[in-house]
Amino acid sequence: MSFARRPLMAGNWKMFKTQAEAQDYIAVFVPLVAQVDDRDILLGVPFTDLNAMVGATRGGNVLVGAQTMHYADQGAFTGEVSAPMLVEAGVQAVILGHSERRQYFAENDHDLAQKVRVALDAGLLPVLCCGETDDERVAGRTEEKIGRQIDQALGALKADELDRLAIAYEPIWAIGTGKTATPEIAQETIAFVRSRVRSTFGPAADRVRILYGGSVKASNIDVLMAQPDIDGVLVGGASLDPAEFARIVKFEPLA
Ligand code: PGA
Repeated sequence: MSFARRPLMAGNWKMFKTQAEAQDYIAVFVPLVAQVDDRDILLGVPFTDLNAMVGATRGGNVLVGAQTMHYADQGAFTGEVSAPMLVEAGVQAVILGHSERRQYFAENDHDLAQKVRVALDAGLLPVLCCGETDDERVAGRTEEKIGRQIDQALGALKADELDRLAIAYEPIWAIGTGKTATPEIAQETIAFVRSRVRSTFGPAADRVRILYGGSVKASNIDVLMAQPDIDGVLVGGASLDPAEFARIVKFEPLA
């Protein structure tokens, strides 16, 4: 594993936690992970929590991210937030193309290609999500679906930028269902994602971090992180509890 593939342990709070709840969380979480210096820690939080979270984590080892953004710098896009706005707020990362954004808010591969480009240009770490539905997996169309998502979203990148991006493979059938992909399925599909990146970008594919997401918990993190191609995780439900997420951050890969 190259240095560029330092583990990235990311939480996705989705639409949970008011500012007061976020402050309570950080007061517990930050001390629990204060000694962690060999992996990156990221919390993707609601827009309204960003300011408070950036303030509460300043100078520490916890990165703060948004959960989506627009590709334009500004404009008549009601409800949206731009990369310059996030950067000014002190935000360091942005989750892009989460399956819930794709499903409920029509985020699509064409827009995502622009968003990934804009995020990198702004100095944000994009965490690009991809994944198949249950029907697509059963029909044997997993690679076709994910391959297309990857090809389109990364279309505007150069090979030497791959280490500034993370990809999160999140099978939609595993998100919020308690039905985690087996470590073998997660490994096999993430290895496919890496091979797809390699087919476009060559050996630089070994420098992109690829995360697994979907019902990651304290009880399955160690076996997931033992897989050779899994460079981290994107955690929804289990990231809402500071003690559980701290345990996930402090995984100990099984030999
Ligand atoms: P989950 O969500 O961990 O609650 O399954 C993961 C995600 O949606 O990123």
